[in-house]
Amino acid sequence: MDLSTTYMGLELKHPVVASPSPLSGTLDGILRLEDAGAAAVVMLSLFEEQVQQQTDTMMRIMGSGEDGFAESLSYFPDYDDYPLDPDQYLETLRRASERCDVPVIASINGVTNQGWIDIARMMQQAGASGLELNIYYIPTEITLSGRAVEDLYLDVVRAVRDAVSVPLALKLSPYFSSVGDMAKQFDAAGADALVLFNRLYRPDFDLERLQVVPRISLSTPAEIRLPLLWISLLHDRIKASLGASHGVDSAAEVVKYILAGADAVMTTSALLRHGVEHLATLVDGLQQWMQVKGYSSVRQLKGLMSQRRISDPDAFERAVYIRTLEHYDSNSAVAKTAGTAVT
Ligand SMILES: Cc1cc2nc3c(=O)[nH]c(=O)nc-3n(C[C@H](O)[C@H](O)[C@H](O)COP(=O)(O)O)c2cc1C
Repeated sequence: MDLSTTYMGLELKHPVVASPSPLSGTLDGILRLEDAGAAAVVMLSLFEEQVQQQTDTMMRIMGSGEDGFAESLSYFPDYDDYPLDPDQYLETLRRASERCDVPVIASINGVTNQGWIDIARMMQQAGASGLELNIYYIPTEITLSGRAVEDLYLDVVRAVRDAVSVPLALKLSPYFSSVGDMAKQFDAAGADALVLFNRLYRPDFDLERLQVVPRISLSTPAEIRLPLLWISLLHDRIKASLGASHGVDSAAEVVKYILAGADAVMTTSALLRHGVEHLATLVDGLQQWMQVKGYSSVRQLKGLMSQRRISDPDAFERAVYIRTLEHYDSNSAVAKTAGTAVT
């Protein structure tokens, strides 16, 4: 059975990829993910603030006394607390790239265009097989227009594309007015892959202390629906590969994402919850499903349930919204609608 796939121009032995998490923040962790069967590993993100903090510390030690990035220094936690400082990050990337047979993709979370560019160049030099741009931006300034936010994303992609030659993936926010149009623009700007979607962590309130508290929770399979929808809509419509990220817990989610049209399926929560050995369960489950259904290659099933391939493309549109509401079953709390067949 041929499970191979191409993702951001990289040949993968199968579609299941380890997405950024503390598991991919150390050399040991990356090697364990490879041993456990990941087809590629995306490292934990390196934050521009870390690099800047290190530079500022160096400048203070050397006596220049400038707090060039005072704002970030005040909100970014002491980088001693973060698993990797920038030098360690690049060293880990260098060693992992030398030792791993599978692609090691580095992840950047930048702030300024120059920061994105500098870090991207360092990561390319350290041997990254590709880069993932983790643009994590919450437009808290409420006068900022949607167009300005879109331009900010596009500027980053263009700037990094001009600066490096390795394949680029962009981890996208789902909060654009028109995800499809933005996907086309990122495609034109030179992104080799789009990862749908970034999981933005919203703060919670502590009612006892009346404090805003950061909360990070692991995902559940119900969360695949939004990326599943957009992957189905974008498959075969843009050049860039599609990476699915969100809510994978079992092989069922892996199969669904591939049927929608994903070239790679990424997982973090499931590995944190069940251990890295769960990678084998996901890949074996995919293989078993294909065997039972009579498919011999991942390429055969990729996109079979994308909007372009299903018999009823309205299934993704307004008509089905009304049908879904009509068929809500209060006993099972599940909306039953007529299924949509694969053509
Ligand atoms: C503890 C933790 C740390 C994470 N760190 C990063 C990171 O450094 N960079 C990044 O792009 N995503 C990071 N993520 C997000 C994951 O890569 C992934 O996109 C998200 O958890 C959704 O996938 P999942 O449903 O498989 O968990 C992190 C997630 C968790 C739970």
